Order: sequence, then C-alpha cells, then structure tokens
Amino acid sequence: LGSPHSFVDSNEDHIPLSSNGARELKFPPDFVWGTATASYQVEGGCDAGGRGLSIWDTFSRERCVDNGDVACGHFFKYEEDVKLMQKLGFKNYRLSISWSRIQPTGRGPINAEGVAFYNDLINCLLAHGVEPLITLYHWDLPQALEDELGGWQSREIAPIFCDYARLCFELFGDRVKNWLTFNEPWCVCLLGYGTGEHAPGITCDDGTKVYMAAHNVLRAHAAAVDVYRREYKAQQGGVIGITLNCNWNEPVPDRDPAAAQRNADAAHRILMWSLGWFADPIWRGDYPPEMRERCGDRLPTFTDEEKALLKGSSDFLGLNHYFSDFVKDCSKGEFVSHWGITSKGGYFGDMAATTEGHPTWARTDMGWNVVPWGFRRLLLWCQERYNPPGGIYITENGCAVPEPTKESSVKDTFRVAYLTSYIAAMHEAMEAGADVRGYFAWSFLDNFEWSLGYSKRFGIVHVDYDTLERTPKTSAHWFAHVTARNAVHI
Ligand code: NOJ
Repeated sequence: LGSPHSFVDSNEDHIPLSSNGARELKFPPDFVWGTATASYQVEGGCDAGGRGLSIWDTFSRERCVDNGDVACGHFFKYEEDVKLMQKLGFKNYRLSISWSRIQPTGRGPINAEGVAFYNDLINCLLAHGVEPLITLYHWDLPQALEDELGGWQSREIAPIFCDYARLCFELFGDRVKNWLTFNEPWCVCLLGYGTGEHAPGITCDDGTKVYMAAHNVLRAHAAAVDVYRREYKAQQGGVIGITLNCNWNEPVPDRDPAAAQRNADAAHRILMWSLGWFADPIWRGDYPPEMRERCGDRLPTFTDEEKALLKGSSDFLGLNHYFSDFVKDCSKGEFVSHWGITSKGGYFGDMAATTEGHPTWARTDMGWNVVPWGFRRLLLWCQERYNPPGGIYITENGCAVPEPTKESSVKDTFRVAYLTSYIAAMHEAMEAGADVRGYFAWSFLDNFEWSLGYSKRFGIVHVDYDTLERTPKTSAHWFAHVTARNAVHI
C-alpha cells in the first residue's frame, strides 16, 4: 500500500488509506479510468459563442431555483480544467456536446464558433494526454425542436438527430474515437415527458408520451449508430454505444414463498421498466415481453427494419449507477410511486412495484441509498442478460455530499468511502465474471444538478460558485491514486 505521501497534492493528511492491513484490489492493465461531466451542467456561457437556446435554458429559467447560465464557466475555463485533469493524472474524460452550440436551431445552419469551441476543447484534451469520450445528447435539446416538433415525441426527430450526429462524426471524428449517442434515455423520457420534473416539463399520466419519446430516442440512436458504422467507422476506427441508467432493485424477502415470488417479479419489472426498456431492443431485438403484456398498444411497435437496425446497435453497454432499493409488489393495492405519479392504470400502474430503503442504509445528499452490493448484483445481472460483446463501461458513479462549509466539502471522506466501496463491489463483480472495462466518476466538477440546481455537489473537484475557483477535494487526490496504481485499497 502506498503511503499517504504518494498522493499528488497538498491535503494528504486526510486520505483514509494508511492502515497497514488494507487489501489491494488490482484491475486489468487496460482498464479505463476517467471522470465525467455534461455540457449544460458545467459550461455556462449560454448566450456566448452563438449558442442557441436549449430546453434546459427555458425550463430552468422559468421553473427552477437555479439555471445553467454561468454554471462552472467551463466554456471559458476549459483550459484550466484540462490542465487540472492532467495534473491529477486523469487520462479519460467523458463530456457532452451541446447540440445548440453546433446547430442553434437543431437543424440547418452550423455555428462556427460552437464548432471552434469543441475543436479547441478536444485538441486541448489530447495535447494534455486526456482521451475524450463524447456523449452526443446529454439532455440539452435545441428549444426550436421542442417548439416545432414536440421534441422526442415526434417521429421526425430521429433523422434530425442523425444529421446532427453525422455532423459531429464529420467534424470531430478524426480525433474522437469514443462516442455515446444518448445519456440516460429513461430520464429524458420519464422525467421530461411523464413527471415533468425535467425539461421540457411535460406531464402525462398514462405513459403514452413517455413510451413514444423512448421509442423515438431508440430509433434515433439506432439510426446514428448505423451512420457511424457505414460512413465513418472504417476510416475513423472508433466505437459507439449508449449509456443507460439503472438502480439495483432487491425484492423484499418474505417467509411466504408466493409473496416472495411476487416481490421478485416486481423487482424484475422495475429492471424491465428502466434498463430492459432500452437494453432489450438493443441487445435482444425488441421491448421486454413484460412491457408488451402490460402496456398493450400504449407501447409503440418497431418495424422489422427498425428491429434489425436496433439489434446490436451498441458496441458496449454504458451504465450509470448510483443506488439500490428494496422492492415490493403492489399489483393488488392502490399504487403509490416514489417517482411522483400516483395512478392505478397508468404508467406506473403498468409496473405495479414500489420501492423503499432500509433503516440501516447510509444515504447520500440526494437521499439515495448507499448499497455497494447492489452494484455488484446489477453488474452480474447485466452480464447475464445482455452479455455485451464490447463489455460494460461504468460511465457514471458517485454521490452528492452536503456542503456545510467549503473546508468540510473539500475534505470529503464520505465520498472517498462511497467510491471505495462501489469500486470494490465492481471488482468483486468482475472476479465473478462481469466484463467491466472502464469506470468514470461522476463528476469531475461540482455542477448544475438539473432541477436541484447547485445545492447538490457531486464533484471530486470543488467549485466556488462566487469566484469559480476550483479546488480538488480529498476524493480527487484519492482517485488520482486509484487511477495511477490501477487499484483500490480496502
Ligand atoms: C445522471 C446524469 O447523467 C447526470 O447528468 C446527473 O448529474 C447525475 N446522474 C447525478 O444525478
């Protein structure tokens, strides 16, 4: 075990890794370690550089406590940020492109200043030895596409997204070799077009809008991957996939075997209505049978051609994971959802499952349960159900920690403990057969946590929102150590 003095920067004395009895869990030599952010959450400069409006500008300015107008000012300070990544030894960085910086109205005219910004950022990353992984869509849809078409509810959006994707491959693909089409379509669709908690803030009780939006996201994903593979892959030689979010759902045990089975079925349904909804069409060729059975024709159908295009349309599985819950069946009772929709026959009525925590579980500042063994189970479940040929990449994992004072926020031992336990659980899953090939911590910087604004801090680097000063937290130094040693110590 490295002594605390092997850390790269100043606050070594807070690193809780000096115990002599610690075990070293080694990762495979080519394991990918990185950190992640997303355009609207960090860039700011919303009116700068010819950028067009996105649905998050409108939604957050009108309906949220905070907005992304300034955020971390990464649009102006990207060089400083990249230098810090280099200093900490972070060799991979997941970022997203703001569609409305490239095409202010979502289609048609290209904004040269926006293109220049991403060219500069990509070149800067590569010059500092940091490999980019780029998400094409991390939720900031150009407002014009929402206004003109109804956003993801419209079938017409798939070819439009595809043109935008082509543009990005064309402009940046000579240097960018790792692509993600969508980040967390579950959130895009459910929170954007179901509960209304996220932009564009549309609500729908029977799920029809949600299912339609998801259908179009999947069609758009498949079309963009097809374009990459047919027109760019041979020449550019990169990989392309999708990132899905999933919690682990553990059935509440019950002495009565029939009740235990009902809870197990309910937990399975939650997995189907989160990961399976998107992963089944991509790895198995169609929506999960359970969804078809319960949703009937509220769930749209794919044509044979669409199914063929979808199947195998991700080179790897990108997975974002944060927490676990216990699950109970509630098909017999009034359904009450912790996600905000209460209805019997509606979207969540389809799922008929309810979740709860456990009194002994620690929780993060989001109220999310810290359950590392749930991560291990989820990884093994994904491996078994999808067996993705290009492996699994954890494209996000991390936790929000409150900030009573800046000093305490920077000494984030809770986050170090969280990340240690989750990375160790991932290691266990790998030993048991999960083909995990990379891990990106969310997030490089404290940033704009969507409708919760700046109050939730996920960063391993602290951002002072008055001065925009960056200060690496204890977890950043700790993570530097993990990535440098390619190992975690428990
Ligand atoms: C998932 C999203 O991709 C990201 O934007 C968000 O900040 C984190 N989870 C934390 O909630």
